[in-house]
Amino acid sequence: MGVEVSVEGLTKSFGSQNIWRDVTLTLPEGEVSALLGPSGTGKSVFLKTLIGLLHPEQGSVIIDGTDITQCSAKELYEIRKLFGVLFQDGALFGSMSLFDNIAFPLREHTKKKENEVRDIVMEKIDLVGLTGAEDKLPGEISGGMRKRAGLARALVLDPQIILCDEPDSGLDPVRTAYISQLLIDINAQIDATILIVTHNINIARTIPDNIGMLFRKELVMFGPREQLLTSEQPVVKQFLSGDRFGPIGMSEEKDEAVQKQEEAMQAAGISGGGTKEDFTEIIPQVQPNPGMPERKAIARHRERVHAMLPDLPENAQEAIRRSQEQEDQIREESRAHAEDMAGGGGGRHGGDNEWTSAPAGNVAVADAKTDVIDYGGSDAPTEQWQTPGGGDALTKPSHRAADGNEGRTIQG
Ligand SMILES: Nc1ncnc2c1ncn2[C@@H]1O[C@H](COP(=O)(O)OP(=O)(O)O)[C@@H](O)[C@H]1O
Ligand SMILES: [Mg+2]
Repeated sequence: MGVEVSVEGLTKSFGSQNIWRDVTLTLPEGEVSALLGPSGTGKSVFLKTLIGLLHPEQGSVIIDGTDITQCSAKELYEIRKLFGVLFQDGALFGSMSLFDNIAFPLREHTKKKENEVRDIVMEKIDLVGLTGAEDKLPGEISGGMRKRAGLARALVLDPQIILCDEPDSGLDPVRTAYISQLLIDINAQIDATILIVTHNINIARTIPDNIGMLFRKELVMFGPREQLLTSEQPVVKQFLSGDRFGPIGMSEEKDEAVQKQEEAMQAAGISGGGTKEDFTEIIPQVQPNPGMPERKAIARHRERVHAMLPDLPENAQEAIRRSQEQEDQIREESRAHAEDMAGGGGGRHGGDNEWTSAPAGNVAVADAKTDVIDYGGSDAPTEQWQTPGGGDALTKPSHRAADGNEGRTIQG
């Protein structure tokens, strides 16, 4: 079960350069959250602060009752066992094979025998679609593959909190869909609290339960995804549409004169290059693959959102109501479909709203196990990281079968 991460009044600077200030948000237990923001706004710095690799000047990060900004090194070491982290560059050890990289946390922090280590590592390698590449060195594979290897390593200890720094960067849209689906499936399996830092608007629209955005050294907003997607704030709208006209500039914020100029250009019909898509049209959230358990966080998220609903802007409230109706409908249809597939069953049953049946299907992703393909890619790994931790058993349906229904149990 994931744990809540509660951030209060957090401020971080490097020397005289303030990165962000007074950031307050809670990553609800077991929910998937995304953090957006222009490059250089300190998203990676934020992740590193959450795990105590960087030290804020002010504020607190409470995890499992411990303020990691104040605790002892020993306590921090224990808290870090809860985390699995995928760094922006994969952060693999350059001189170790992928197998040894992924095995590293297990060898370092558990007393598992080598054959158990092997089973777990091969399981995770399969999960991220890297079978066959286990003997390769990080320098011999693409950035996208390094990313998936980094994810496998982040998962070997069945973490309760998973932080992913731009899991999509260097990946094409299809592989991005696979890795996003994988994160949702993992969330369904282990109910881990997940934070995804991303620029990818498609991920933001379809994956997280909550979205936050950093801009101008502050957290612009953090709330249910519908709230950000329907926001009227110019910075949010600009970021989502990817338009050059708006408060976000090439390097930093724009001054008033430039903004006036842009308004004139827009009025003259000149394009800012952004998409004209309507982000207030909420598209359904990606569901776990068939055969996966339900996401336990969905019911908790609903309850939370329900309680905060009256305080949200009108359009966010409306969007949330619409998307919940839509989710119920999808769920109902997939439940009926699952029953039909099971055969001989009672057919469709009525409008109960409980989250008790098979998850709604996003059946499109059936085969996450691709061959060794060049994903194109990002920079060489630099950072070294270990994710210690304990592990419960979990069930992992095979990603190989087109029906996705084969389950098998592995030991964490
Ligand atoms: N260890 C560090 N020392 C000094 N400055 C840093 C350090 N890490 C990051 N920064 C600075 O913090 C700012 C935010 O960086 P980063 O978190 O990587 O942005 P993002 O991930 O949002 O693109 C940048 O200006 C970067 O140069
Ligand atoms: Mg970054």
